[in-house]
This record gives sequence, C-alpha cells and structure tokens, in this order.
Amino acid sequence: MRALRQTSTAGPRDLRLVDDVPVPTPGPGEVLVRVTAAGVNFADVMQTRGTYGGGPRPPYTAGFEAAGEVVAPGPGTTAPAVGAHVVGTGSGAFAEYAVLEAGSTMPVPEGWADEQALGLVLNWATALAALRPLGRVAAGETVLVRAAAGGVGQAAVRLAKHYGATVVATASPGKHEVVRALGADRVLDYGDCDAVGPVDLVLESVGASFAASLRAARPVTGRVVVYGEAGGEAAVTNRQLVFEHQVHVIGLHVGVLAREAPEVFAGLVDELAALRGAGVLTPGRPVVHGLADGPRVLAALEARATVGKQVLKP
Ligand SMILES: NC(=O)c1ccc[n+]([C@@H]2O[C@H](COP(=O)([O-])OP(=O)(O)OC[C@H]3O[C@@H](n4cnc5c(N)ncnc54)[C@H](OP(=O)(O)O)[C@@H]3O)[C@@H](O)[C@H]2O)c1
Repeated sequence: MRALRQTSTAGPRDLRLVDDVPVPTPGPGEVLVRVTAAGVNFADVMQTRGTYGGGPRPPYTAGFEAAGEVVAPGPGTTAPAVGAHVVGTGSGAFAEYAVLEAGSTMPVPEGWADEQALGLVLNWATALAALRPLGRVAAGETVLVRAAAGGVGQAAVRLAKHYGATVVATASPGKHEVVRALGADRVLDYGDCDAVGPVDLVLESVGASFAASLRAARPVTGRVVVYGEAGGEAAVTNRQLVFEHQVHVIGLHVGVLAREAPEVFAGLVDELAALRGAGVLTPGRPVVHGLADGPRVLAALEARATVGKQVLKP
C-alpha cells in the first residue's frame, strides 16, 4: 500500500511517500480501517522530531488520526462493526490502511463525509475535556485559549462560547480575524496577555506562554489546563505554586484519558453527540491535501503557517 514513512528524527523533510508497505494487522482491541482521510496534528510534527512521548522510533508509518471504513477487526474486537465508517486514533494513519484503537473510535455522523469527522476525537474531545471535566468552566467565567486558530484552539473557542464564557484568545497576528469570526471576545498576540486581568481558566498548549498563563490565572480559584508544548518545554516549581501562582495546574492527554478514565471519555462522546444535535458541533471544514503533500503540510504546521484542521487523502 501507499504510505508516508518517517526515516529519521530530522523533522518533516524526512517523511517519504512509498508504495510497498504491507497492510498492517490489527491486534486485540484494534480494527483495520481503509483510510479515506487522515488528520494532521501537532503531535505528528513532534513525532518527526522524536519528541512525542511514547511515540515510535524511525522508520515507521506516520499519522495518529484517521477516518474511514472498518475492514477487519482484531482478535476479540466486537465493535465497531466491519463496514462502519469511523474516526479515531491509532498508528500509521498516513496510508491506505491503518490500525485504530477500537475504544478511541466514534462513528462518522450521519450525513457527514469521513474527512468532516476528523478532529472529533483529537480536537473536539481534547477541547471539551480541557473545558468541562478538567477545567470545570461555568457560564460567566473568562477563559483564555492559546493557539486559538489551530485545530484544538478553534474547537475550544466555539465550545467556551457555547458554555457561556467570555473568551480571550491568543494567536499569531495574521490569524486574529479567523478567531474573531469564531466568536472570541478578544484576540491578542501571545505577548499581550498581562493586560487581560485575571481569568478563571487557561487552555495552555504552547509552553513559551506557560509563565504568562500562570500569571493570568485568577489566584486560588484559577485553573490552567496544560495539554501541549508546541513552543517547547516550560517548568513551574513548588515554590512558585506556594508564593507566586496559587492556581490549579492540570495535565491532559486525551489518549490517556480514554484509556485510564473510560467513563469520563464516554461522557465526552455523549456530550459531543448532544452538541451535534444542538447544532453547536457542525461538520468540519478541513483544508484537504494529497498524501504526497504530507511533508509540506507538516512543515507548514511546524512553522505556524496553517490555519485550522489539515487533512491528507491517501
Ligand atoms: N494532550 C492532548 O491530548 C492533545 C491532543 C491534541 C492536541 N494537543 C496539543 O494541542 C496543541 C494544538 O494541537 P493542534 O494539532 O490543533 O495544532 P495547531 O494548534 O493547529 O498548531 C499548533 C499551533 O501552536 C501555535 N504555536 C505557538 N507557539 C508555537 C511554536 N513555537 N511553534 C509552533 N507552534 C506554535 C501556532 O499557532 P499561532 O500561529 O497562533 O501561534 C500553531 O499553529 C498542540 O500543542 C498539540 O500537541 C494535545
């Protein structure tokens, strides 16, 4: 089959399209999917540099997120059924066939094209987890969303508005208009947040802005949900938490959440279905590229040159 293979940790330039990769075999708890579209995520960029925690070592078939038709279950896997169209996470998504973790999959909603469902798990469920079960957002609160023009960020802005929050967002200057159109109340550059005043919840995914996010959170009741490090690692000390930033720092990894707290993940799936029913969550409008464009798309994501969800079609 055709697939994008990563051959080093030198970044997206060493992602290569090849056509002689064997179709993978699903294991217990997995399903084999004929991929119709694969989602590009910042995790893919990190993976090309070898910085994604627990990721494969090169050479490997790249890609964590796919949508498509289930063609074979792994041993003992009973759902989703063969023939179902699903979106989910797994390995080797940038290929004609990929193995997905059955527990991470969601059905492609009725009437949606497969590619429009990409982002349901990795973008919307992450944003929802950060806002609700972990961030405990309440109507009338103020939420600060980092990287608000990105895949997770756009979902977070829309959800936070839906839950009645005032949304302050940060994004690169050329992306402000997109974020404003999503309903954000204020859109700022990353350096301008000290002017915001205390916020109740910060969705922090950048790292370079982590110190400013801690400063922005309201003392005692403020929460900072950390789910990414697109701009690199950042630290906070016990001393700072006692004497400088008396805030709640909460770590989030949606894959670990699905595995370790399946009842919380099931709650997210139910809530996303309800949001679809209410017209809050509408079919995605990804930017679609061919598989051969993968290296260029990942390089653009790394260079902060993309807006919204990017998708590769095998
Ligand atoms: N923990 C989880 O379960 C989980 C799940 C999904 C995603 N994530 C994380 O959530 C974040 C968003 O993911 P995504 O896939 O939707 O990506 P994305 O937001 O579309 O892309 C990353 C964005 O981060 C911003 N950024 C700020 N500083 C950066 C820097 N130094 N280098 C590169 N980018 C920088 C850029 O936006 P600007 O141009 O506006 O600065 C860039 O567009 C990532 O950090 C990702 O790792 C975590």
